[in-house]
Amino acid sequence: MPDIAPHIARMPGSGVRHILERALRRPGTIILAVGEPGEVAGAEIRDAAADAWRAGAIRYTPNGGIPALREAIRSKLARENGLEVHPEQIWVTVGATQALYLAMALTLSRGDEILVPDPGYTTFTMNAHLLQAVPVPYPLRPQRAFQPDLAELEALVTPRTRALIVNTPSNPLGSTFDRETLQALLALARRHDLWLISDEVYERFTWGEPHVSPATLDADRRVLSVFSMSKTYAMTGARVGWLVTPPGWRQTMLRVQESVVSCVDEPSQRAAAAALTGDQAAVQRSAAHYRDNLAAATAALDARGLRYLAPTGAFYLWIDVSHVSAGDVVAWCERLLDERGVAVAPGSAFGASGEGWIRVCVASDRAELLEGIGRIPAPT
Ligand SMILES: Cc1ncc(COP(=O)(O)O)c(C=O)c1O
Repeated sequence: MPDIAPHIARMPGSGVRHILERALRRPGTIILAVGEPGEVAGAEIRDAAADAWRAGAIRYTPNGGIPALREAIRSKLARENGLEVHPEQIWVTVGATQALYLAMALTLSRGDEILVPDPGYTTFTMNAHLLQAVPVPYPLRPQRAFQPDLAELEALVTPRTRALIVNTPSNPLGSTFDRETLQALLALARRHDLWLISDEVYERFTWGEPHVSPATLDADRRVLSVFSMSKTYAMTGARVGWLVTPPGWRQTMLRVQESVVSCVDEPSQRAAAAALTGDQAAVQRSAAHYRDNLAAATAALDARGLRYLAPTGAFYLWIDVSHVSAGDVVAWCERLLDERGVAVAPGSAFGASGEGWIRVCVASDRAELLEGIGRIPAPT
């Protein structure tokens, strides 16, 4: 039998999935390990998809997406992000996951290096492996409140570096980069002629300063922006996101999108258009729910003397458990699950800098969240 391509065989798996699967084998576990919104999208969003199915709208659509959705996205980007783009720069994708894959496939050749945040979302690293590129982690450290050290980052640039990934608000950290930091990262990208791939899937959930889209600061068209319907509208399984490319990429994108997925299914696209053009009250309710959950959870952690990164975005809490994890946070998370019935994501699943930390998702039920957090041993 022939072998699977060796670079695929070497690809790391997701440490979060590993904990989740273990948790699912133990009924009654409090699951705080996955980034899933607590609710599901509203009835008018689901109806739009159901109506599309009933009307038989299940044929191929244009590669870039149905015009109504591209226009809804264009208008959303102008209104909320201050980003003026032509609909032809917007490519509807199978979630942000496919948009990230495209952004990396479009910019990286075999052996090229890409700077990825550490701790950072696991797909950044996994995609790099898939594309036979080299993920180079740039550390985000507690000493700097998990903000990038620009001198250290710049020292990681080599002649093979092609791109820099920025994810604000951050999964797993629940932190954000401000305008000055983004400007500095863009200046660095300009100095070394790098692409900047911006993952903005948590853009609607910020707990202080409003979200800044790096493309609004981009003077020379080097930013590729990745967005998603998943978290904002609680429709993770509908699989709709989009990539915003620099202008003039239409012919390339037609070929690339055709070869990867051809198009996203139309019922999901119609649901996304309904979500973007409909009442936004549910998004505000979700944001309020996450903010209140974060306030309750951080108060509980404070009361017990547990250290965490003060959250400024997304719906995660990044908690220091180094007083109990003894240098192996994966093993400690497995014990927490087996002995105390709580599933949390080990920080090291997001990169070496995450050792000694855990990520807790605060998106669902508050009572469960507080019960789960209460089972994390406090420092003595
Ligand atoms: C930072 C980040 N980017 C991208 C994604 C993928 O989102 P989607 O469901 O749109 O594929 C996630 C999902 O958890 C994420 O946390």
